[in-house]
Amino acid sequence: MSLEPHRATLPAPSHPIRFYRGGRIVTVDAAPITRTVLDWLREDAHVTGTKEGCNEGDCGACTVVIGEHSPLHPGDGLRLSSVNACLRLLPTLHGKALFTVEDLKRIAGGALHPTQQAMVDHHGSQCGFCTPGFVMSLWHTYETHQQAGKPPCRQQLADALSGNLCRCTGYRPILDAGERMFDAPAVRLDPAPVLAALAEIRAGDAAQAEIRAGDAAQADGNGFVYTGPDRQARFFAPRTADALAALRQRCPEARLLAGATDIGLWINKQLRDVGDLLYIGDVAELTTITKADNRLRIGAAASLESAWQALAAHDPNLTEVWLRFASPPVRHAGTLAGNLANGSPIGDAAPVLLALDAALILRQGDRRRTLPLADFYVDYMKNRLARGEFLEAIEVPLSTSATAHLRAYKISKRFDCDISALLGAFRIVVDDAGLITSARLAYGGMAAIARRSLPAESALVGQPWTLATVRAAQAALAHDFTPLSDMRASDDYRMTVAQNLLERFWLETRAVDPLPASSLRVFASMRDTAPRAV
Ligand code: FAD
Ligand code: FES
Ligand code: FES
Repeated sequence: MSLEPHRATLPAPSHPIRFYRGGRIVTVDAAPITRTVLDWLREDAHVTGTKEGCNEGDCGACTVVIGEHSPLHPGDGLRLSSVNACLRLLPTLHGKALFTVEDLKRIAGGALHPTQQAMVDHHGSQCGFCTPGFVMSLWHTYETHQQAGKPPCRQQLADALSGNLCRCTGYRPILDAGERMFDAPAVRLDPAPVLAALAEIRAGDAAQAEIRAGDAAQADGNGFVYTGPDRQARFFAPRTADALAALRQRCPEARLLAGATDIGLWINKQLRDVGDLLYIGDVAELTTITKADNRLRIGAAASLESAWQALAAHDPNLTEVWLRFASPPVRHAGTLAGNLANGSPIGDAAPVLLALDAALILRQGDRRRTLPLADFYVDYMKNRLARGEFLEAIEVPLSTSATAHLRAYKISKRFDCDISALLGAFRIVVDDAGLITSARLAYGGMAAIARRSLPAESALVGQPWTLATVRAAQAALAHDFTPLSDMRASDDYRMTVAQNLLERFWLETRAVDPLPASSLRVFASMRDTAPRAV
């Protein structure tokens, strides 16, 4: 269907992409809207320190750091995020700052930056192909922890680097370098010139918007429009939820773009033409996470990192599934809403949010409706979003019951940064008499959609929390799911593990002699040491 009738009513055509890079404002207006930051760096700007390995977010060779003006961000208001340049679309840089490995020497006044010097001193690089990516992840960690005034422990470093693969060093020297980089005198990024440049870009936007539409408020809401050289596909980046809602209705064919950690693979790997893009990442009000009336409200543009952090703050039993969801660069770019809207049957967020009875705030123009997540999916990768509607927020009830038990178990081949074979998320409430009053047993990877097992839940409710009750629920599971076999797991394996996870849940939460989670974790042996004394 042609979009022509709409073109007249949409914000005026393109203005260039402008972002801070290498100490100045860069202007780009000849790149297609799906140009990745990695391809622009290497092929257009001929800045080749940033490497290409997998081109799909898995290896970290392309790690760069994005700087955004974020008034709520602690410290100087410049929020830094490590991301994968191979999945980052260039127009999303408008109004932001891009830092690559070439910047570190400039930041360090011409010497090697402490992150780089530590990698040299501790032999953190052999073939060197992964090194720029590691150095940028280390630099992001360095700035974050300098800001916090406390160096990371070795496990935190390992978590921060879980999105970077190295085939040569075995990682120990890189972790050593990560610990030692804090020994040298601190070398910090000066945020002032960066923030001044970002303010200059915003002022330019406002002036252009006012000229274009004669009404700065309305135009500013429409934010930024970019079409690239072929003037075919358009990239819209509205600034307000109202403008997003209006554009969504006027341009329902436009593909909603959040962190592009799913869409980026459609472009890079499936070579799909994604058409017009409606980017939600610049809608500040959708990036927030708030708590009110005992509910957590996670905005559709809130990063996976901030969303999982908020959920794990509510229940620390979600920490492992948070840290094992993709990698820091993917979690900094991707969104929880994108995971739910994408609707992969092995998506990790849905089972956890199903166990928490989450609901979705769906918006169409000025009309909003609340839909339980349990009613959102209709079939494989199909959901109940209406035309012109979008997911505005996710609401999670915060349980205050002292006798509620929540666990989420991710089963995948690799511990870090791997797609699940299956994920079980369970929540029960047990009363004073030891009877189960409420049960939520949700699985990803067991069917065409992530879903709860109502028969298995019924086998629990009203019963005592005993092994016999678990056995009845395990039997109910066997009748309720018919899992598939694929490259990640066989059907038998999935069913056996799905049932065993229920027993693990009972072992950890039974009234008498519950086992500590650590005793059931394969990585219990992993060192968790504070930085060694200098
Ligand atoms: P996008 O790619 O921007 O969009 C995804 C889909 O959702 C698109 O169809 C888009 O139109 C739609 N959409 C986005 N926002 C909205 C909205 N507000 N309303 C309506 N529709 C919307 N996933 C896991 O579950 N577990 C993992 O461990 C995991 N590991 C990964 C590792 C790598 C290396 C990569 C590249 C991906 C991984 N993913 C994983 C998949 C992906 O990161 C997640 O699904 C992510 O949450 C998608 O969010 P996004 O913001 O990037 O979505
Ligand atoms: Fe591998 Fe980007 S090239 S993560
Ligand atoms: Fe060769 Fe890391 S040094 S891949």
